[in-house]
Amino acid sequence: MGLYSRYLVPALTEFAMRSQTLRPERERWVPLARGVVLEVGVGSGLNVPIYSGEVRKLYALDPSEQLLRMARSRVARGTFPVEFLCRPAAAIPLADVSVDDIVTTWTLCTIPDPVAALREMRRVLRPEGRLIFVEHGRSPDPAVVRWQDRLTPFWRRVAGGCHLNRPIDRLLRSGGFEALEMNRSYVAGPRVGSYFYRGIARSAPGGRFPDPEKAEKGIAHVE
Ligand SMILES: C[S@@+](CC[C@H](N)C(=O)[O-])C[C@H]1O[C@@H](n2cnc3c(N)ncnc32)[C@H](O)[C@@H]1O
Repeated sequence: MGLYSRYLVPALTEFAMRSQTLRPERERWVPLARGVVLEVGVGSGLNVPIYSGEVRKLYALDPSEQLLRMARSRVARGTFPVEFLCRPAAAIPLADVSVDDIVTTWTLCTIPDPVAALREMRRVLRPEGRLIFVEHGRSPDPAVVRWQDRLTPFWRRVAGGCHLNRPIDRLLRSGGFEALEMNRSYVAGPRVGSYFYRGIARSAPGGRFPDPEKAEKGIAHVE
């Protein structure tokens, strides 16, 4: 890993993610999490102070040691215990059906194989558990998508692997989730990076790991 990825990307990520545009989204969705919670791609821990008193324990997973170091400094004493897991989402070091809720905020854009990661999340989530997500992704407007597709090969190199053009709704289905609530819109900022998907999903009924092709066609999907 080069110096840029190791030191500069975490510092730029922390700076970008502190944006005031993102703050209301965090405050709207993160406090919904309850019980034993896994946050995937916790980054510098900006969500940690926002969790409600309903959280019993937080597993804070991220593959970046530098970002986890920043996250540790955000953990207040005397709230809920936080266990840091320096791992990628494709290999979550937790038992099957062991967490009540999972939170991701602006993380599915960056994970190299988001469908494999979602399947891992589904494995560790209790059957009645929820995936609470706030993500940016593929726009519904063809003109914007053209730019998202054009810019992504460059953008992902400079922005720590971030893809501008991922269809979050389809990824969720391919990963074996169905949306209970899905709220989509542009927020302030350039349209290529400001189409947000936020909501709550649960494990799709049926087999634990549905055929990705069927999921892609909308089978096992309720929105
Ligand atoms: C744009 S940042 C968002 C950070 C944080 N969720 C937030 O809201 O501030 C994307 C995060 O995804 C993490 N990430 C990258 N690859 C990952 C992987 N394979 N598994 C889990 N997280 C990953 C990055 O280290 C980074 O913390």
